[in-house]
Amino acid sequence: MKRIIIDCDPGIDDSLALILALKSPELDVIGITICAGNVPVEIGGVNAYRVLKLLKREDIPIYVGDNNPIKRDLVTAQDTHGDDGVGDVLPEVIIPKDAIKLGAVDYLIKTLKENEDVSIIALGPMTNLAKAVEREKEILKRAERIVSMGGAFRTNGNCSQVAEFNYWVDPESVNIVFENVDKPIELIPLDVTRKIVLTPNYREYLKQMKNEIADFIYNITGFYVDFHWMQERTLGCVINDPLAVAYFIEPSLCSGVLTHLECVENGRAIGQTLIDIGDFYRKTPNVFINTEVDEKRFFELFFHRVFPENKK
Ligand code: BDR
Ligand code: CA
Repeated sequence: MKRIIIDCDPGIDDSLALILALKSPELDVIGITICAGNVPVEIGGVNAYRVLKLLKREDIPIYVGDNNPIKRDLVTAQDTHGDDGVGDVLPEVIIPKDAIKLGAVDYLIKTLKENEDVSIIALGPMTNLAKAVEREKEILKRAERIVSMGGAFRTNGNCSQVAEFNYWVDPESVNIVFENVDKPIELIPLDVTRKIVLTPNYREYLKQMKNEIADFIYNITGFYVDFHWMQERTLGCVINDPLAVAYFIEPSLCSGVLTHLECVENGRAIGQTLIDIGDFYRKTPNVFINTEVDEKRFFELFFHRVFPENKK
């Protein structure tokens, strides 16, 4: 079993990623850290707890980080995920005392210091990871692997012509993190996640299953579906974050290239990921950017793990 910390901003697709991770026998989710992104951290913490409760895994600790990106104010994505971050359809949940703790950055530092076999799957802005580096420069070098959902390579952005949300929210943190790793970060950019469409057929399948997890997924993705229809007149919804978890388990789902990444911090292209695929600057590679994905195999993996009882 691989020990992982999931750093996330739940978020509809973050919630699906958490479900996939918790239902995957290959993974031992030792902690969840919450960054600000789709929603402020207090809301993200509640949503992570909702998933733990759904899967009866309230034993996993949740730590929230700070609400502001490292050098700027937070811009959330509640237009995409709902005011409550999970589609505004779930009943209120009672959070037991101490189920959500402060100190995401402390937790990351302490856990990485004490262990050599912990990996990080980062599904939101990189604020918590960058703050950990600011306090302990070498800390991310202790992670076994770092997989991050963020950025865009050859596709257009989802916040501007060129910028993807996670990296657009806190570009300075992206640079701090990428400059302070000693192994390439394994990147799942929009180029591959855009192919992960939860189609009306898949949603109908979920509806027919009539079980609690399927209903949860069906219900929270409704808001996302409406958003996609309003924005681009497409059916279904793109679910970005679970691909990062699936890829962590099964890297052969994707393929890509080893190169160097930096993030634009100012101006109209803020948040754009500059990928030096031509090796103009002869910099040590700090990213393995995935550019292709087998989406059919992703959905097989997702449904088989989340609903093993339906596996034919
Ligand atoms: C990313 O932004 C968020 O809205 C999603 O949760 C995902 O992590 C996609 O750009
Ligand atoms: Ca996310």
